[in-house]
Amino acid sequence: MANSGIWLLTWLISFLCCALHVMGAGRAGNGSTRFFDFKVQTLRVTKLCNTKEIVTINKRFPGPVIYAQEGDRIIVNLTNETPYNATIHWHGVRQRRSCWFDGPAYITQCPIQSGQTFRYEFTLAKQKGTLFWHAHVSWLRATVYGAIVVYPKTGVPYPFKRPDEEHIIILGEYWLKDIVQLEREVMESGGIPPPADAFTINGHPGPNYNCSANDVFEIQVVPTKTYLLRLINAALNMENFFAIANHKLTIVETDGEYTKPFVTERVMLGPGQTMNVLVTADQPIGRYSMAMGPYMSAKHVRFQNISAIAYFQYLGAVPHTETLPAKLPSFNDNLAVMTVMDGLRSLNPVKVPKTMDVNLFVTIGVNVNKCASNNCTGLKNGTMAASMNNISFVNPSLSLLEAYYHKIDGYFTEDFPGAPLKFYDFVNGAPNNIPNDTQAMNGTRAKVLKYGSRVQLILQDTGTVTTENHPIHLHGYSFYVVGYGTGNYNPQTAKFNLVDPPYMNTIGVPVGGWAAVRFVADNPGVWFIHCHFDIHQSWGLGTVLIVKNGKGKRERLQRPPANMPRC
Ligand code: C2O
Repeated sequence: MANSGIWLLTWLISFLCCALHVMGAGRAGNGSTRFFDFKVQTLRVTKLCNTKEIVTINKRFPGPVIYAQEGDRIIVNLTNETPYNATIHWHGVRQRRSCWFDGPAYITQCPIQSGQTFRYEFTLAKQKGTLFWHAHVSWLRATVYGAIVVYPKTGVPYPFKRPDEEHIIILGEYWLKDIVQLEREVMESGGIPPPADAFTINGHPGPNYNCSANDVFEIQVVPTKTYLLRLINAALNMENFFAIANHKLTIVETDGEYTKPFVTERVMLGPGQTMNVLVTADQPIGRYSMAMGPYMSAKHVRFQNISAIAYFQYLGAVPHTETLPAKLPSFNDNLAVMTVMDGLRSLNPVKVPKTMDVNLFVTIGVNVNKCASNNCTGLKNGTMAASMNNISFVNPSLSLLEAYYHKIDGYFTEDFPGAPLKFYDFVNGAPNNIPNDTQAMNGTRAKVLKYGSRVQLILQDTGTVTTENHPIHLHGYSFYVVGYGTGNYNPQTAKFNLVDPPYMNTIGVPVGGWAAVRFVADNPGVWFIHCHFDIHQSWGLGTVLIVKNGKGKRERLQRPPANMPRC
């Protein structure tokens, strides 16, 4: 397909438009301003033999791509034409001093209500690569997502052989049921959500699913050419393997940062992770499948086990030719995940903070609480929950950023504990050392950090209900993933890489294990940190880090825009 032609054209057009827009406002090459019109609209789609309405941006699924260049200013005018509340989060955009435009509902803004408009405005300062945007209210992210592609500055090449073409590949999960209704039912019942009805690649389930023989994404490739695939996992509640039949993938970027080239047969992406891989069409002419399958590390959970398939189709292949199947690891192949993780290294040596001002130790995991009504459908007839340091995060009824900025009392407390209240065998035990004690507390408790603090955060998976790989995402920052391992974190034996660790914004904490990340808290604001499984986020697996203003003029959060939505 002429995909690359289209992006080039789109890019040229938007570049020209913006060049005109900003005439007189800043020099060329010094960051252009790019305008986007996002209308939240419903769209009727037919998938898996069913027709239903989904929520989209501009009636596109996946949504429009934001093409930009490092240093650009992005302005997105968002109008909500649906009956639902809406917000958009620019996942991976660091929002330096512009926390107001980060997007998570009740954290940095109130939802944009039906009929309302909000203007997002931020700069892609010192960052490039593949990121994405998605809804950050209820479970609308299931269909409201799209790519952000940030090219290097003019004249700055990629640090690898220039690919002949580029393609965006977004992994997703699709439900036949109305997603907001599904969310309501699951949350009311206290139970576990049903698996998705399909996995999708760029919105298409592919031939393994009912009525989907023609609902397939395809890229056409020319023998010997090299392709850059921008992989994005936008799935709601699943981590996924991705592979192409008979072709090797070379990872060159993860979460928008270059990595040492790492050759692998398959990759694993948790929701919230992005990865750029190079693939060369070096196989006999034919049709090869690109496959997305499940990685499920939790026990006793039902999940979708049918792979989504797209085609990697050589020019000149006979039509209706047989597709060579891709080999995906089995759903519980933890080793395959570790191997990819071990391969992720920053391209160049990096400046990892060596001494720490703040050491946080945070347990992450699933809980079961006592049933408040009489008919909860969670495990042991309880209500499912999830927590950090055994506290389930409760959304406030006002934006926390507003409450913090305007010093409005009563919406949160500043006492999120920097360590678990009790230390125990996290992987094999229960919080109070009482077998079967799976309860969590509730709270809206923030951790306050001084501007510029060097922070180390150890994330420790717990086995209170079941151990599981959790994709933990931090807003407003990327962090160095300096270490990880299985079992309980032990400072005596933990091995750290302080030379070339990957710089990421979402880390899949190993199942029954831990991960250590470091960052310098130099971006003031209220930043959500949470599990990127929407179900775990709804159950409370998250908290907020409040980073205070520094002294300098460029160390303060900017003023709120005049048009903040009201709760
Ligand atoms: Cu991509 Cu808070 O999320």
